[in-house]
Amino acid sequence: MKYKSIALDGPSGSGKSTLAKRIAKHFNMIYVDTGAMYRAIGLFVFRSGVDSKDENAVSGLLGQIKLRMKYDDSGSQRMLLNGEDVSEAIRLPEISTYASNVSALPVVRKFLLGMQQDMAKSSDVIMDGRDIGTVVLPNADLKIFITADENARALRRFKELKAKGVDTSLEDVAADMAQRDKNDSEREAAPLRAAKDATLVDTTELDFEQSFQALVQLVSEIS
Ligand code: DC
Repeated sequence: MKYKSIALDGPSGSGKSTLAKRIAKHFNMIYVDTGAMYRAIGLFVFRSGVDSKDENAVSGLLGQIKLRMKYDDSGSQRMLLNGEDVSEAIRLPEISTYASNVSALPVVRKFLLGMQQDMAKSSDVIMDGRDIGTVVLPNADLKIFITADENARALRRFKELKAKGVDTSLEDVAADMAQRDKNDSEREAAPLRAAKDATLVDTTELDFEQSFQALVQLVSEIS
């Protein structure tokens, strides 16, 4: 049986993950947050005290890493790192930088690629990330590239972190996001880029419900 797959790519703070979660629920698909996998590796590297830009050193750690995704009763994805639920720990701002650094390493991308592709072989999926439409699922039934201007994205991420009780400022969030977008877009290995056949959705002027409806419309066309 051929399962449906949707590739959802875009920069940080574009609203990808919140939208993907709702779309998954609405169309009864599995949501795969590939950023969480890079974050889990970033967390492991952080805890190991290894330089996250040193490909040899990071490569040496990969054999000690077992990742698993679990879905709780509400359908939310939980990220397990060697059996430990790190779903909250991987969201801390300092881990974002580690995730971005390790995601630029080809050895790390290779480590995750098969795992990500396998997940699309056993169920209908909506997968979000940076290279899903270009590298991970080049034959996806639908590719969406979602974006919003920098200020809107920084404000959204700031509010999200505040709501979780993380002590930070809008300026810090904006600077960190700009740096990560630069790393993610300019790296050589699978940079953040819209696939040629992706549909672009700009959510700068859209609220969540409007963005959601725009995506529902696109997904309905392939359902
Ligand atoms: O989506 P996110 O912010 O949780 O992702 C964390 C980091 O992982 C981000 O800096 C980019 C990287 N990433 C990637 O390179 N490729 C993906 N498919 C998903 C995330």
